[in-house]
Amino acid sequence: MNPSVVVPDRLRGRDFISTQDWSLEELELLFILAGQLKKARREAEPTHLLPAKTLYMIFFDASTRTRNSFETGITQLGGHGIYLSPDRMQISHGENAKDTAKVLSRYGDGIAIRHCTYGEGNAYIREVAEHADIPVLSMQDDVYHPCQVLADYMTIRERFPSTRGLKLGVAWTSAPNYVRPLSVPQSLILMMPRLGLDVTLAYPPEFRLLPEIEEQARANAEAAGSRFQISHRFEDAFEDADVVVPKSWGPLVHTRDVAEGLRLIEKYPRWRCDAERIALGKEHLVYMHPLPADRGREVTDEVIDGPHSAVYDEAENRLHVQKALMALVM
Ligand code: CP
Repeated sequence: MNPSVVVPDRLRGRDFISTQDWSLEELELLFILAGQLKKARREAEPTHLLPAKTLYMIFFDASTRTRNSFETGITQLGGHGIYLSPDRMQISHGENAKDTAKVLSRYGDGIAIRHCTYGEGNAYIREVAEHADIPVLSMQDDVYHPCQVLADYMTIRERFPSTRGLKLGVAWTSAPNYVRPLSVPQSLILMMPRLGLDVTLAYPPEFRLLPEIEEQARANAEAAGSRFQISHRFEDAFEDADVVVPKSWGPLVHTRDVAEGLRLIEKYPRWRCDAERIALGKEHLVYMHPLPADRGREVTDEVIDGPHSAVYDEAENRLHVQKALMALVM
């Protein structure tokens, strides 16, 4: 593969922790390269853009898509990914972010981290980035899931000739068992208005997002000439929408108490994506979910397995956008 994009020097060695840190031109370059990498893979062309480069992947939390798309991605680029679990590292004995960052920087070419503990994850990744001499990539933290929304945008733009003026509904859904991070909806409301989409965010009052993120989303929309609005009515995210992302997150801004959080999730069982809600959107409405989805609670099988669903394309696009990201910064 011979990519047509020219990588500007400013991107080499850059961290990727929030899309907010990257300009629209830089994001556009990434999407173009991701498209070329996807095409190359379809045509079985080799994409050895990072021969012999090593990516360290530190997972504080479980993963199916993120681990496998990063690890497969670096292999397809001609490099090597090393899966690291903090409980098998000296992090478990208290080794700090600086020493971890400095040492890994002497060996390899990139550090990717997933750390979703509320109030800790983003701060930890930023601290590693401050001390690392190689790029640090977020694989999701308590505030952002930037690679997920790159894949989401790629999926949307594969389906629409232009994304400006599309209505994107981001809706909270009721899902039991554990309190999910705020990072997906927060990353969606930050990036999508910058790219011209009109975003309606719907959640019950106890499920608000971080106030500074909602404020930044408003500012992004204003700067881009798009719209960002918040509703406490589930159906508002669906009515006349082009794309909808109904997914669960925890009432973490309202309460840090897990038992209380789980009780609040059970208070709103009606917040579930079903065929009736899908019918409120435009005929071509695209249903998206980053997965894993709680089938039956967040969404009915009829919807997630139905003609509106783009969930497997969305999951696949994680591979292509992350390969583009690694190729640009590593
Ligand atoms: N969407 C996503 O990040 O999936 P995993 O938690 O499986 O990595």
